[in-house]
Amino acid sequence: MAGYSDAPMRQLSAEAGALWTVSEMISSRGLVLGNEDEDLIIGKPYPGEQHRVVQLFGADPDILAEASRRAAEWFDAAAIDLNMGCPVPKIRGKGGACLLQTPEVAYELISAMRAAVPLDVSAKIRLGFDTNRAVEVAQGLEAAGVSLITVHGRTSAQRYTGEADWEAIAEVAASVRVPVVGSGDVLSAQQARERLRAGVAAVMIGRGAVGQPWIFTELSQPGFTPPSTAQRAATALRHTRLNAQWYGEWRGLKQMRKVLPRYLDGAASPESELRDALVRLETLPQAEALLAPLAGEGPGAGVHA
Ligand SMILES: Cc1cc2nc3c(=O)[nH]c(=O)nc-3n(C[C@H](O)[C@H](O)[C@H](O)COP(=O)(O)O)c2cc1C
Repeated sequence: MAGYSDAPMRQLSAEAGALWTVSEMISSRGLVLGNEDEDLIIGKPYPGEQHRVVQLFGADPDILAEASRRAAEWFDAAAIDLNMGCPVPKIRGKGGACLLQTPEVAYELISAMRAAVPLDVSAKIRLGFDTNRAVEVAQGLEAAGVSLITVHGRTSAQRYTGEADWEAIAEVAASVRVPVVGSGDVLSAQQARERLRAGVAAVMIGRGAVGQPWIFTELSQPGFTPPSTAQRAATALRHTRLNAQWYGEWRGLKQMRKVLPRYLDGAASPESELRDALVRLETLPQAEALLAPLAGEGPGAGVHA
């Protein structure tokens, strides 16, 4: 998820029990032709990271092939995924969900990526650009050699409105031999278990994991007990410290503003002073002053972590 599934979020998700994680989408052109600082930080693994798929965005076979090589070598990717779901570019011939209008281009991209790296190559699609053609596209992707397909159960025209169509996802899962992962509106472990009945190999959790990494623990550990407010605050503080280390204090804290209230749902209701302070944070000591008492940490604990 662009803007979210960075190294700190992936680390907390993996520690909580996520089977695998996916990077934010990375521009293949940026990786090959420039913007290196930005694309390197998006692609870089945290020390010891495993089971992390690198997702690439693009529409040119040669550039995607070279970007796949770099992602494999520089970022230690477990597999490479082609983004065919981003609804932002609207121009035919660009990457993301536009590839659903010209799927034959996507098949060529997959072939080029497969030829470039010894890793599995997968694709993440939506149901279609404006109408559902997911079965046709999935079968074409399978013939082009993908090892796995993730389906977000909306068209690109729907963006994030309405509800994800899990019946349509189930149709795709039944129409190909490669594993299909379902994506869309899974916000709790119980919903994830229900969605597995659609015949998918796995469920992808996006927004439901923001500020709630223990959704993966609930799925992987029997007898899970929901975290207390103190545990939520402790994880929020750990995430904040990881972010400050990863990005530097200013950028890391700024990025936490949208995430921290999610950790403290209930304690940080929309009109609360706590929420107001969380969305204005600028420094790590400010975050520690707010969160450490909630987490039950002594004053100053972990300041130099
Ligand atoms: C802010 C945001 C950023 C996203 N970025 C990506 C992305 O980079 N690559 C991708 O394949 N999907 C991306 N998605 C789509 C999600 O992966 C997912 O398919 C969609 O949000 C539905 O699942 P959810 O309800 O579990 O979030 C993004 C979604 C959101 C809300």
